[in-house]
Amino acid sequence: MKFFVDTADTDEIKSLAEAGLIDGVTTNPSLIAKSGRNMSDVIAEICDLTTGHVSAEVVATDFDTMVSEGRKLQKIASNVAVKLPLTMDGLKACRTLSDAGTAVNVTLCFSANQALLAAKAGAAYISPFIGRLDDMNIDGMEVIEEIRIIYDNYGFETEILAASIRNANHVKLSALAGADVATVPPNVLRGLASHPLTDKGLAAFLADAEKAGIKI
Ligand code: E4P
Repeated sequence: MKFFVDTADTDEIKSLAEAGLIDGVTTNPSLIAKSGRNMSDVIAEICDLTTGHVSAEVVATDFDTMVSEGRKLQKIASNVAVKLPLTMDGLKACRTLSDAGTAVNVTLCFSANQALLAAKAGAAYISPFIGRLDDMNIDGMEVIEEIRIIYDNYGFETEILAASIRNANHVKLSALAGADVATVPPNVLRGLASHPLTDKGLAAFLADAEKAGIKI
């Protein structure tokens, strides 16, 4: 499973990339706004921090402007993946940009049928939003499971990118459901490494080493 980090915070991305933990980055307009920086500058800087795809989202909603914004974003760096919303215009723009060789991440997916359309439109990634479904008492993981079955039934190569991940359990369940990628907020990604028994065990080993005067 690939891990993307879901942030526009370049310090966080740098530190996680140095730890060898990430395969790419996703952003959205809310995350770019939170960074307080110019979008092209921040996307260019992120693209230098990873060789994997960096999703950059259009802000237009009509086909023509989405395609022209997508082309501008794609010119920032060769590893930009253009993010388009799952609307009819977004799907049409996905077909146009994908046919021209641009990697497209179709976002704001909340159902298996939407994911089927994105695959037919040639998307490189489909982003089902688990957390936002869970917020409405709908099991987001069921949607990932359904998409996996449908894509496997027909041999679609679109990668399932589990998005809107809020906790470690979402990561585990996405992996079990066969998502190709999980995009994870930095705090959740760091949290995956921690376990109280690891801390307790390490403290005991270090105490014994100190008592015995072990030096390496
Ligand atoms: C990533 O591609 C999505 O935009 C992001 O995961 C959405 O997460 P949220 O529902 O926590 O805002």
